[in-house]
Amino acid sequence: MASLQSSCMVLSTNHKPPSATARRFHVSCSGGGGVDRRDLLLGLGGLYGAKAANLNARAEPIQPPDMKACGVPDVGGVSLDVNCCPPTLDAIKNYVLPPVGKLRVRPPAHKLPHEYLAKYEEAIRRMRALDETDPDDPRGFTQQANVHCAYCNNAYDQAGTDIPLSIHFSWLFFPWHRWYLYFYERILGSLIQDPTFALPFWNWDNPRGMHLPSIFDNENSPLYDTNRNPLHRPPAVVDLQFTNGKPEPTDDERLVRSNLATMYKEMMRVRKPEDFMGQSYVAGEEVPPPAKAGTVERGSHTSIHRWVGDPNNPYHEDLGNFYSAGRDPAFYSHHSNVDRMWTLWRGLKTKVPKAINDPDYLNAAFLFYDENKELVRVRAGDVLDNKKMGYEYKDVDVPWLYFRPPRRAARVKVKDISKNAQRPEKVFPLTLSRIARVLVSKTAPGAADEDLLVEHIHASPDEFVKFDVYVNSEEDDPKDVDQAEYAGTFAKLPHRGGRGHHSHDKGKGSIRFSLQELYEDINIDGDDEEVVVTIVPRANGRHVIIGGIKIVKA
Ligand code: C2O
Repeated sequence: MASLQSSCMVLSTNHKPPSATARRFHVSCSGGGGVDRRDLLLGLGGLYGAKAANLNARAEPIQPPDMKACGVPDVGGVSLDVNCCPPTLDAIKNYVLPPVGKLRVRPPAHKLPHEYLAKYEEAIRRMRALDETDPDDPRGFTQQANVHCAYCNNAYDQAGTDIPLSIHFSWLFFPWHRWYLYFYERILGSLIQDPTFALPFWNWDNPRGMHLPSIFDNENSPLYDTNRNPLHRPPAVVDLQFTNGKPEPTDDERLVRSNLATMYKEMMRVRKPEDFMGQSYVAGEEVPPPAKAGTVERGSHTSIHRWVGDPNNPYHEDLGNFYSAGRDPAFYSHHSNVDRMWTLWRGLKTKVPKAINDPDYLNAAFLFYDENKELVRVRAGDVLDNKKMGYEYKDVDVPWLYFRPPRRAARVKVKDISKNAQRPEKVFPLTLSRIARVLVSKTAPGAADEDLLVEHIHASPDEFVKFDVYVNSEEDDPKDVDQAEYAGTFAKLPHRGGRGHHSHDKGKGSIRFSLQELYEDINIDGDDEEVVVTIVPRANGRHVIIGGIKIVKA
C-alpha cells in the first residue's frame, strides 16, 4: 500500500475528533501530489492560529521543515561557522516503498569479505567524488552529512513556526535515522549500480565487534576519517560506558563485561515502549530535553559517538558532535547497529509492548533526497518493519541476551547501608557534583513490581554529561555496571535545544528504571520499606541538576 494512503487512513481513523484540518488533509491526500499538511494548517490561519483555537486539545505530528528556511546550525550555544543546509527543490513527492524482492542483508563490518569491502569503498569513493564534481548534488558525501547536521543542530524550524526542529531525544530518533540510512544505502547502491548493496553494521554489542572495525582504520581507504580519537584505533576495546577516557580503561575483559551488562539493561529492562523508543514529541513543542531519549539513545549510542570523536577537536568532531557526525563513514555503520537494536528489541519476547500506536508518532514526517535526487516526504509509521523496507540484518550471536547479572547470595539490610544516605527532602533539587545516596520509599513493604523515576533532569546543553544509578549498593562509590545493583545510565552529547526563548535548556525530562528483576538480583528483603539509591556522576556532574527521585508502581 502506498505510504501516502496509509497515512491518510490512519488520520481518518484516529481516535481524536476529526477536525476540519484532518478532513481537509484527507481530501487533499487522496488527491495526492505532495501537498504539505502544514500548508493546510497555515491556510487555516497559521500554526499559531490553529494552536490558539485548539490549544492542547489535540496534538499534531511533527511535519517536515521548510527546507528553504534552513539557517545556521548551532552547537552548545555557539553558532557554527558552517553551512549545512541541503539544496532545496520545489517538487516534493510522497515516497512509496518499492515492492520488496530479495532482502538486502546488512553484514557485520568486522568480517566483511574482501570483495564486499571493495564494493563499499568504491561506492564511498564515488560519493566523495560528487563533492568535487557537483557540490550541490544531494547524494554527495558532504551533502549526506549535512542532512544530519541540519536536522540535529537546529538549522531547521518546524514549518510555519520559529521553533527549532530536532530529531534526537524523542520517539523520532529511531524512525528518522532508519530513513536516513535507508536513503544513504540506496544512494551508495545506485552509485555502483548494485541494488543488493547493504550497509555493514558495526557489531559493537558483540565482543567480536567491540572495536572500531578495521575497514575504517585504513588510511588509504575512503572509509578513513582523520577526526577520531587516536587512542581508540583498533584493537582498542570500545567502552559503552565511556566517560571522558581519563584514565583509559586497561582491563579489556572487564570492559567486555561492562559492555554486555550495559546492553542487557538497555534492551531487557524496559517497561514501556517510550522507555526504549524515546518519549513523545509533537508539533509546536520545544526541542525535547535529552532525558526524553530512550535507553539506547542515551546510553550505548551516545558512548560510541563520544568514544570515536577526537577529544582534541573543539567539539570532539567528527562523531563526538551531531553536526559533524555524518562526516565520518563509521557513523553510518554505528547507526546501522543502533537501528539493528530497534529490530532486535521488537523481536524480543519480553512482556513490554513494542509498538507505539499514537498517530502523532506514526504520522510524523520528514524530507530526504532519494537515490534519484528527488526530494521525498516520508512517514515514521512506514519504517516499523525493516523487512518491508527491503533489508534485514545478518543473524549473529547476541550474547547480551543472557547477561543478566548474577544474583547476590547475601541479603542486604537497608539499615546497614543507609548510614550516609539522606532523605529526598534533604537532597533535591540536587546538583550532581558528587555521589549522592538517597533513601527512597517503596510503594509498599515488599512490593516487587516497581519502577524508579529520576525526575526533572536538567543537563547543561554545553557539556557531555553522564551519570549512573545503583540500588542498594553497599559501596559508597560503585564502579562496575555488571553487578546486580546497577539500574542504568543517563548520557548525552553537548546539544542546545534552540534559540533564545525556544530552548529545551531549561526543559527537563524524567527517566525510568525498571526494578522488578533488579530486586530479585539484589535479593531484596521482602519487608523493606525503603531502598538506597546511589547516583554516581561520571562526566560533568556539576552540570546536572536532578529534581527528585521516586518509586512508583509499575
Ligand atoms: Cu543523529 Cu547518533 O546521531
